Amino acid sequence: MTDLAPRRFRTEDGRLSADMRAAFERDGYLFLESFVAPSECDRLRARALELVDGFDPTEHRTVFSTTSRSHAAAAYFETSGDKIRFFFEEGAFDGRGNLRQPKALSINKIGHAMHDLDPVFEAFSHTAKLRNLANDLGIKTPQAIQSMYIFKQPHIGGEVVWHVDSTYLYTEPPSCVGFWFALEEATMENGAMWCLPGAHRLPLKSRFLRRDGKLVTEVLDDTPWPNGPCVGLEAAMGTLIVLHGQLPHYSGPNRSDRSRHAYTLHMIDAECRYPEENWLVRGPELPLRPL
Ligand code: FE2
Repeated sequence: MTDLAPRRFRTEDGRLSADMRAAFERDGYLFLESFVAPSECDRLRARALELVDGFDPTEHRTVFSTTSRSHAAAAYFETSGDKIRFFFEEGAFDGRGNLRQPKALSINKIGHAMHDLDPVFEAFSHTAKLRNLANDLGIKTPQAIQSMYIFKQPHIGGEVVWHVDSTYLYTEPPSCVGFWFALEEATMENGAMWCLPGAHRLPLKSRFLRRDGKLVTEVLDDTPWPNGPCVGLEAAMGTLIVLHGQLPHYSGPNRSDRSRHAYTLHMIDAECRYPEENWLVRGPELPLRPL
């Protein structure tokens, strides 16, 4: 990959200058330094560890056991759109469903509604600053549809292959925008993201949706993304990286001995149609609400 450096900006209140909006339109990402105070990053990291601490994986042994993955595991994921659920790194369990190493070092991510269900993440995710930002990115009525806490564990944190978020959070017309908060420093060694600036203008290549009770990937366009140039998104703690829903991005495995915690929040515009066949669904007891 060719390592281009990202252009860096700052905003105190989430408002974007014309220059910043133009950069987002041109590149498909916006790199906002020092968006989150260090004390807030610390608070979110501590809360995520508390949530993990309170989670008993043995209650879900059938879900995670490698011998009986398939059905239970698929259902655990498919119904997680309006819950707080815990997903493990591949290979975290042995054949009998026992963790190979401590729980707090085995979890890949927490998802997908912690921004509505957990008070600490709820308070962080629903602020005037984020609403300003979403509005200035062109989202008229922003709704946070998905949250994830990503651990990218030392040594075993897996890669996330090239994808765009609109594949998963498809609306008509497209409106998905991702907020990626670095809660720890992200470097090339511990799995920082890469993106393909400008490639958000290419047509959507696939959709991940429910069909006949199963989650499937529907290919819309099988031409490959360009080979580059890529931008490496190394980020200090407190950085917010905004990703256009159709911007291809990737993160490598973490082979270092330092974790790379990040919190992600995905917005859609309530004025766009959210098809009911999308993978992420919510029950009537947890409707989407304005940011
Ligand atoms: Fe993504």
